[in-house]
Amino acid sequence: MSIFLDSAHIEDARRAMQLGFVRGVTTNPSHIARTGRPGLDVLRDLLALTDGPVFYQVTADTVEERYAQAWELHSLCPDRLVVKIPATTENLALTARLTKAGVDCLVTAVASPAQVYLAAQAGAHYVAPYVNRLTRQVGDGVSIVREMAQILRGTQTEILAASLKSVEEVVAVLLAGAHHVTVPLDLLLAMGEHPFSQQAIVEFNQARIPA
Ligand code: G3P
Repeated sequence: MSIFLDSAHIEDARRAMQLGFVRGVTTNPSHIARTGRPGLDVLRDLLALTDGPVFYQVTADTVEERYAQAWELHSLCPDRLVVKIPATTENLALTARLTKAGVDCLVTAVASPAQVYLAAQAGAHYVAPYVNRLTRQVGDGVSIVREMAQILRGTQTEILAASLKSVEEVVAVLLAGAHHVTVPLDLLLAMGEHPFSQQAIVEFNQARIPA
């Protein structure tokens, strides 16, 4: 069960990696666009900042172009680069081609247990449901993840839950069976804090006998 940073911001990635418990970095085309830099430059920097997996999405227009793009990405770091592929039937076939050839793949933006079932058949290492977006646009995102987790039981495919907006949502999706989560830096930092803990620290500090 791993936690990832969901960002392409280099300083955020540096800060997250300094924590020592963040396994890697997930990006998406919007994150990359916000950096204003060439995507492959950002990707190389992120790969240098972490010794864990870095996720990068294929965006080319045609399947054959996405196939070539996936190999280009994979060749940058075959052991740690995970190719993100948006969930469509055409792209699930692309996923099967790539996984059979040894490319690590995540099927992203999955919205249904049926897509997740097919992603597992295609050999995807991960599937990424966008939990908060699902809740806003489809139905209860946490319940959808619970069904996905049931479908994936006994398979090699793992749920990496994304689009998480609160500590409570992270906890709910983990309880629903997500194997991993990816969160932005502010949420990552918020997860480690609680008013009760702060209060206890204040009380202990007040009780401390001066050295
Ligand atoms: O990276 C995919 C996902 O986490 C983005 O979510 O809804 O914050 O754009 P959202």
